[in-house]
Amino acid sequence: MMSHEEKINPEKLEQIAAAAELLNTGGVVAFPTETVYGLGADATNPVAVKRVYNIKQRPANHPLIVHIGNIAQLEHWALDIPEPARLLAERFWPGPLTLILKRSSKISNDVTGGQDTIGIRIPAHPVAQALLRMINPDKAVAAPSANLYGRISPTTAAHVHAALYGKVDMILDGGDCEVGLESTIIAFKHEDIAVLRPGGISVSAIESIVNQPVAVIKNNASSIRVPGALPAHYAPTTPLQLHQASKLLQTAHQLAQQNFRPVVITWSEIDTSEFSSTHIEHVRMPRDPVNYGKCLYATLHQYDQTACDYILVETPPALPDWLAVSDRLQRASQSHK
Ligand code: TXA
Ligand code: MG
Repeated sequence: MMSHEEKINPEKLEQIAAAAELLNTGGVVAFPTETVYGLGADATNPVAVKRVYNIKQRPANHPLIVHIGNIAQLEHWALDIPEPARLLAERFWPGPLTLILKRSSKISNDVTGGQDTIGIRIPAHPVAQALLRMINPDKAVAAPSANLYGRISPTTAAHVHAALYGKVDMILDGGDCEVGLESTIIAFKHEDIAVLRPGGISVSAIESIVNQPVAVIKNNASSIRVPGALPAHYAPTTPLQLHQASKLLQTAHQLAQQNFRPVVITWSEIDTSEFSSTHIEHVRMPRDPVNYGKCLYATLHQYDQTACDYILVETPPALPDWLAVSDRLQRASQSHK
């Protein structure tokens, strides 16, 4: 991955400079990260942060992630950083990892949804890094994913455009997101470490760095301040169902017989050859969780926008490396039950 401004072309650098200027002066800018696109505002400007909540239609008590450019800035925004958090930051930043830490007085209630903690990360995307280097040094970028509340996160500038054009001051295009799923979120309580949201960095990779078991907090509707943890999140508007292979084919045929147009999304070798003679569309996904995760949202966006009536997805393998993909698919299916 690129890490220096020299590798970004001059035209793009000019756009990034314009985006930085907008952020410095209270603007709202959608920008690429390696996970998904973010909807950014100056984290120290309550008016700009409020605009992000309004544009996204997100409840005010759901905190935003603060994006910084450099690990040296961590102490400015967070206090009492536990040793395992430091180890994880050193190992995985820049990258798809968000740490929940005690917040400093520099960060206001507007960003943290009234909590005394801050969610913070250093994104790895070269455009995000350049943007974070160009804003005023006493600022950081507060950003949720650049989708409307409860909808699928954007992994291309076109996805952002479709949802937010005309509502934001600028959409900075950085191509397709490498990871394609939101960051892994880690919280620390006393000696315990927990994953609040599975993501691009696996639980075993985290455990190997912190040298202790890490709990994964399951779907919990009561953890209202973690919108990513509400069951019905990341949902397409088209109903999405998750089925094991045999039930998947049966359901697809039943729906087709009733003149519905389902799309069937599989990852295994199941035989879908009969689909060619029906109204059933078929998408074969990559068989590994990294590449599957990378194209999941783009696939859902694509079929959400076409004339299909149902998105039928083959249940992913029940293996640790598939946790983030399974988590997003389960949530996407929940809102239609
Ligand atoms: O990959 C990502 O994390 C992307 C990119 C743009 O960085 N951002 C993202 O933001 O997914 P959002 O707002 O869609 O999800 C942020 C998650 C939410 O579930 C939020 O509740 C949680 O982070 N979060 C942020 N600050 C928190 C805090 N202080 N305590 C608990 N959860 C927090
Ligand atoms: Mg989100």
